[in-house]
Parts: sequence; C-alpha cells; structure tokens
Amino acid sequence: MTVLRRIGPFEVHPIGLGCMNLSHAYGKPPPVEQAERVLLAALDAGVTLFDTAALYGFGANETLVGRVLKAHRHRIVLASKGGMAGETFPDGVKRVIDGSPEAIRRHCEDSLRRLQTEVIDLYYLHRWHKSVPIEDSVGAMADLVRQGKVRTLGLSEVSAATLRKAHAVHPIAAVQTEYSLWTRNPEIAVLATCRELGAAFVPFSPVARAFLADALPDASGLDAKDIRRSMPRFDPAPYAANLALLPAYRALAQEAGCTPAQLALAWLLSRGENVVPIPGTTRPEHVRENVAAADVPVPADVLARADALINQRTVAGHRYGAQARSEVDTEEF
Ligand SMILES: NC(=O)c1ccc[n+]([C@@H]2O[C@H](COP(=O)([O-])OP(=O)(O)OC[C@H]3O[C@@H](n4cnc5c(N)ncnc54)[C@H](OP(=O)(O)O)[C@@H]3O)[C@@H](O)[C@H]2O)c1
Repeated sequence: MTVLRRIGPFEVHPIGLGCMNLSHAYGKPPPVEQAERVLLAALDAGVTLFDTAALYGFGANETLVGRVLKAHRHRIVLASKGGMAGETFPDGVKRVIDGSPEAIRRHCEDSLRRLQTEVIDLYYLHRWHKSVPIEDSVGAMADLVRQGKVRTLGLSEVSAATLRKAHAVHPIAAVQTEYSLWTRNPEIAVLATCRELGAAFVPFSPVARAFLADALPDASGLDAKDIRRSMPRFDPAPYAANLALLPAYRALAQEAGCTPAQLALAWLLSRGENVVPIPGTTRPEHVRENVAAADVPVPADVLARADALINQRTVAGHRYGAQARSEVDTEEF
C-alpha cells in the first residue's frame, strides 16, 4: 500500500503529475486526445497532485487540465502558479514576470476561470519578481487565501532567505524547484529550510528533462522551440560528457530491478518524507511507470551509488542559460 505524503493539509500520492509538457516546453505538444489520455491515466494510476501554471501554453494548459479534470475535482489536489504569465504585446504574446499584487490578483482570477474551479488548492508564486518585495507578492497571495480563492501557498525557485521572509507573512506549504540527481542546488539550503518550516518540497524536472529516464540519447536534434536548447547542459560537448555517466547509471537501475526513470524518482523520494516529485510526460505508459516508482524497493546502497555517480561534481554544464539564471533566486552550485 502506497504511503501518502503531506502538503499542508493535503495527503497526496508521492508522485504527482507535471502537466506542463502537455502544452508547452519540449517542442510540439502532443495531440489533445493524447494529452487527455495522459491526465486520465494519471488519475487511474492514483495520482492526486496535478501541477499546472498560468504560463504553460499561455493559459492553454490550465484550460486543458480544467476541462479534463473537472469531473474529478473533488479527488485531486490542484496546483497552479501565478506571477509569471503570457502578456499580449503588438508583436504577440510574451512571457512576463510580474509579482505585483495587481498582477497576482489578475493571474489568479484568470487561472480560476480557465481551471473551471472556485478554489486552487496550492497556489505558487512562479518566480520571485526581484523588483517587488517578496512580502508584497505573498501578501497579495495571502489575501487570496482569505478570500477563499486559494487554499495554500507555495513558492518556486527561491532561496532559503526568501522562503523565510515569505513564511513570516503567510505559512508556505510547498517550495517547487528543480531537483534531481543532476541538479542538487536545493541541498545547499532550501531542503533543510523546508523541513524546518514544515513545508513540502516539490522537485520539478525530476527525471532531468528525459536525461535520467535514459530517453534522450542525442540532444542535437531537439526541436527549435524546445526549451532544452537554451540549457548549457544539453549543448553538444557537455551533453556528450553527461551521456558517459549513463551506462553505469543504467546498470544500477537494472540491479535494483527498476527503470532509469524510476531510479531517479526513488532517489528523490528517499531524500525526505516531505518530497513529492512531479515528473512530466506526454505518454500514458510513462505515467504508469513513473507512478510505480513510489512502490519500487530500491536498496539503499544502490541509491548511494547513484548519488555518488551523478551529482554537481560529475555533471557538465549549468542547468540554465544566463537569462534564466538571472530570473531565479535559488542558491546555485
Ligand atoms: N516551477 C517551475 O519553474 C517549473 C519548471 C519546469 C517544470 N516544472 C513542472 O515540473 C514538471 C516536470 O518537469 P519537466 O517536464 O521539465 O521534466 P521531467 O519530468 O524531468 O522530464 C520530462 C521529460 O522526460 C521524459 N520522461 C518522463 N518520464 C519518462 C519515462 N518514464 N520514460 C522515458 N521518458 C520519460 C518526457 O518525455 P515523454 O513525454 O516521452 O514521456 C519528457 O521529455 C512540469 O510538467 C511542470 O509541471 C516547473
């Protein structure tokens, strides 16, 4: 029997579903029928935490999630994010970070409408807008809690210091930041601070955007719009160096009797009982594989060897390019 994990007042399956990939990020999104099958496969497999954002597909992802999961709203924990969204300009829609109280209120109203719900269970600030005091953004989010529009608050890609400031304004139920064997930044401070404050930690990109799923043997052919093209770690030379880690990693998964993606997720689950990864996928069979990671008994010594094999000392290339680095507040190796 799968042991559930806690995010604020919610008990959730240890593996959530990151819905971004159904509308955004890794090249052309899947056909809508396939996206619907992925969401329903997640429900069938026992997933309760569904993660979306105003940004994803400039609203299209929330519209999809809202439509498909509406009938199941009572049995899921719906997480979305504001403070970064698509804004319309004369030359098209562009991504804008805006953490002003006015933008937060507007983003939340738009999300509620697209999600076809009266309340969002977990509402994250997608990025701390560095020219707006975090207290102001979180203060506006706390108002949304008081108004019954959102139930709990989260932050994404913040430092421990920012988390503490925000938590002093309103309890923070979860921090969502990139974390996996190949991205260890939360180990510097944020993981410990979440434990101390009683917040859940939600690792995004938990299978390293396909690398740890052993599903991207060649990054040179990525679609022109694939966001991995802007990430130094996927550039040809660093990626070739990173690929050289995979044969030993694959062997560890085999030894544990699981798949590479499951090993990546099992390692994350072993980092703390407050950790709830949200792998993203466009395929129902990958949903089932990822969810099963919660119940795969990976021996501690295999987890330790995976930890020693793939970490910030052995991985080549930064996770983000210069622009994305300037937008996050996290402590970085
Ligand atoms: N807060 C933030 O700023 C932020 C940033 C990025 C992401 N996120 C959230 O985190 C979620 C997950 O992150 P992510 O999608 O970037 O990275 P991820 O979950 O680490 O990786 C997704 C990639 O891995 C592949 N994959 C997943 N499971 C697989 C399996 N079992 N076998 C083979 N391939 C597999 C997927 O391809 P297939 O489609 O072929 O399965 C996809 O290309 C997103 O959906 C989003 O909700 C949040």
